[in-house]
Amino acid sequence: MVRLLFEGIVYLLGQAEFISSFIILTFIVILLSKSIKRHARSYYWFFGIISFLILLQFLNGLFHISPVNLYRIPVLGKILASNIHMVGFGFPLLAIIMYVGALNPKRPWVKKILNIRKELSIISGFPILSHSLIRITYNFTDALKFFSDKDAYMAQNEWAKSEMGISFSNAGYLLGIVLFVLFMILWITSFDSIHQKLGKHKWKRIQRWSYLLYALLFVHSILLHIGWMMSRSMGEGGNEHIVQGIIAIASTVLVFGSYLILRIRKAQKDSRKKARVLLHS
Ligand code: HEM
Repeated sequence: MVRLLFEGIVYLLGQAEFISSFIILTFIVILLSKSIKRHARSYYWFFGIISFLILLQFLNGLFHISPVNLYRIPVLGKILASNIHMVGFGFPLLAIIMYVGALNPKRPWVKKILNIRKELSIISGFPILSHSLIRITYNFTDALKFFSDKDAYMAQNEWAKSEMGISFSNAGYLLGIVLFVLFMILWITSFDSIHQKLGKHKWKRIQRWSYLLYALLFVHSILLHIGWMMSRSMGEGGNEHIVQGIIAIASTVLVFGSYLILRIRKAQKDSRKKARVLLHS
């Protein structure tokens, strides 16, 4: 039974990584909510050390300091990789932080997540920093090369079969830099010391930018998947990638689309409530 459940989870993670990670991580976050609140600093240290190891390995790769490759170490390698590739951890975590804002705060499990929203935002910064470090160094610079001379890029990169597909994914990589700047502003202002310095009103005004971040996250993900699907479908053995691409896009549309509907409904409900209070005062 346990083996069957485990195999089912592994299968789901392989086929629909984002949506299954989103659901599993939601359960984990709820289960760990008390511990995250109580030992927030330990969690920051844990994810901070992972990001530091990623930085070390990154520098090692650039300057060939040591033959050790941290990604080859069992378990640790997987943890490091999952903190660079957003789909298994950083993305579902951001989606939870976003989604919980559209739910009824009176529900006990929603309350539990809302109570640690700030801590989760700080934790999410570590995988995003690692992701950005690697992606800005490689994909962003590659995207700049592509848009500055498309013909030369297509000629130099034989794997690039569809110019349109490469345009989509590279537009997604360029958008990453906007996401990075926006996220850094929101992340730094999540820390209590900065929050207090800014004051409540200024802080709230800045945090409203998180809606733009969510919208751009959606666009980043969709551009990448459309681009990869188009480039790969032109290449060999495309079918499996197309199915996975469609599942990834459908999952992202489902999560972000349902969030949008719930958030608009909540805003309407809140404004009706405010109007009633004003009427009776
Ligand atoms: C210039 C900076 C960036 C570049 C070039 C870039 C590029 C990429 C690439 C190549 C992937 C797919 C592989 C992987 O998961 O690592 C990806 C995925 C992703 N990135 Fe970025 N990224 C950048 C910055 C960011 C930032 C700052 C965020 C968040 C605030 C972010 C959020 C995501 C998400 C959520 C995914 C998963 C998309 C999905 O699988 O549907 N990226 N990015």
